[in-house]
Amino acid sequence: MSFIEARQLRKSYASADHEVEILKGINLGIEKGEFISLMGPSGAGKSTLLQLLGALDRPSAGEIIIDGKDLSRMSDKELTLFRRRRLGFIFQFFNLMPTLNVLENAALPCFLDGKSLSSVRGFATETLERLGLGHRLDHRPHQLSGGEMQRVAIARALVNKPSLILADEPTGNLDSKNGAEVLSILKNLVKDFNVTLVMVTHDKSAAEVADRKVQLLDGVVV
Ligand SMILES: Nc1ncnc2c1ncn2[C@@H]1O[C@H](COP(=O)(O)OP(=O)(O)OP(=O)(O)O)[C@@H](O)[C@H]1O
Ligand SMILES: [Mg+2]
Repeated sequence: MSFIEARQLRKSYASADHEVEILKGINLGIEKGEFISLMGPSGAGKSTLLQLLGALDRPSAGEIIIDGKDLSRMSDKELTLFRRRRLGFIFQFFNLMPTLNVLENAALPCFLDGKSLSSVRGFATETLERLGLGHRLDHRPHQLSGGEMQRVAIARALVNKPSLILADEPTGNLDSKNGAEVLSILKNLVKDFNVTLVMVTHDKSAAEVADRKVQLLDGVVV
């Protein structure tokens, strides 16, 4: 069995008078330490699939098994803990907290898990230094460039030492230089931490960096 298995995964949304099926039976296996790029036209359901894999939403049918655990058998509370402790999320718009500094933003998932800043300061600082942000720990997000903000978001995604990172267009808001830098950081951390990475992207050259490209079309993997 793969590290991640999606089987006959379906997701529909109710519209005015009927159900619209977005994902129409996705079958996908992803290995531990694999870097997958997920491509497809706008509206194909890439973000929807990522949300299901990240247990942010439940499928209409089918199953997702991550590291042997069937997500459909977990309660909402168990899923919350699973997300906090095992997953890292990176978004297109960084989603940093404007009132927190760089170090606090990176440590946020640990705060949510009831840990103190002092207990994670060491690892969070180390991770930020590794990403070239050691001299920015006290800065607030508005004092950073886009590339720096995304690197803080990457540090935040790593702070709980996740086994799976889900990234939705992490370079979508960066210029080509910062985008390339973020991609090379992502590629290296997959290698160094043996973490699994699923990255949605519209950018063909970004997708090339991954170990495997997955294409979503009309609700199925092609
Ligand atoms: N909560 C929701 N309720 C109803 N429809 C939704 C909801 N979320 C997404 N959809 C619809 O599902 C379809 C797929 O959306 P999704 O965001 O997964 O696409 P995407 O592939 O990520 O597109 P993009 O490349 O533009 O980000 C879209 O048609 C969208 O309108
Ligand atoms: Mg999307």
